[in-house]
Amino acid sequence: MTAAEAAPIVVEGVSKRYQTPSGAVTAVDGVSLTVRPGEFVSLLGPSGCGKSTVLLMIGGLVRPDTGRIVIEGEPSSGPNPKKVALAFQDPGLFPWRTALDNVGFGLELQGLPAARRREIALGLLEPMGLKGFEAKFPRELSGGMRQRVAIARALALDTPILLMDEPFGALDEQTRLLMGEWLVGVRRRTRRTIVFVTHSLQEAIALSDRIVVMTARPGRVKDVIEVPLPFPRDLGSPEVADLRAKLWGQVREESLRAMESSA
Ligand SMILES: Nc1ncnc2c1ncn2[C@@H]1O[C@H](COP(=O)(O)OP(=O)(O)O)[C@@H](O)[C@H]1O
Ligand SMILES: [Mg+2]
Repeated sequence: MTAAEAAPIVVEGVSKRYQTPSGAVTAVDGVSLTVRPGEFVSLLGPSGCGKSTVLLMIGGLVRPDTGRIVIEGEPSSGPNPKKVALAFQDPGLFPWRTALDNVGFGLELQGLPAARRREIALGLLEPMGLKGFEAKFPRELSGGMRQRVAIARALALDTPILLMDEPFGALDEQTRLLMGEWLVGVRRRTRRTIVFVTHSLQEAIALSDRIVVMTARPGRVKDVIEVPLPFPRDLGSPEVADLRAKLWGQVREESLRAMESSA
């Protein structure tokens, strides 16, 4: 077994302090986590607990003050576009590019010819229900469609690791549930290793193999919970209700702490 097969992502005791005008803020304190190949791990916790910071450190976009990140056996020293793709809540599409050309943007930077870019982009957009929308501009697409285009753009890079920061956070609840179902399918087809940030219990339970519950700031790992339920998940099942109650107990405690410390 190679190092990459053993663990695509190893987070070792990372901490991060930000300097702000009102003093230093410790956002993340001593977080460790090993993500297994093909695993879907959610980071769950109250707003401001450092979830995005952990994800940005994994993505090499924020440098930890202590500890380190190891990607497929190599200590990370910055963004690694060959191995790690990111998708954020704000789809961040180029308004002057069509859906197809937004998806092909990274491929263009990699120097792929137009015909090949088109083939890859269409191959991603079609199963996402965006067949016929490839020539549309972002302003002509719904919020859910724009978000799918952004995710297609991240998938187009064909990296083994995908990091997603509340990618469905701006969508209405129904669209969000459908996008979750869709992501379960994408994941099955592409076998990526995914780290997914959310503050939604339901979303974490619907999608994850494991849920990392974070404490209120400074963010630490409070608990790591396995979700050994088959996909697609029945969100009305008693197992889900039990899990939700257990998770809510933990998240509630941390959300209260977060509210008290910001009061
Ligand atoms: N670039 C930054 N500069 C200063 N403070 C920041 C910065 N990014 C995040 N923070 C602070 O760090 C803490 C954790 O933020 P973040 O990682 O975004 O949490 P979450 O994603 O869980 O909401 C928050 O208090 C936030 O205000
Ligand atoms: Mg965040």
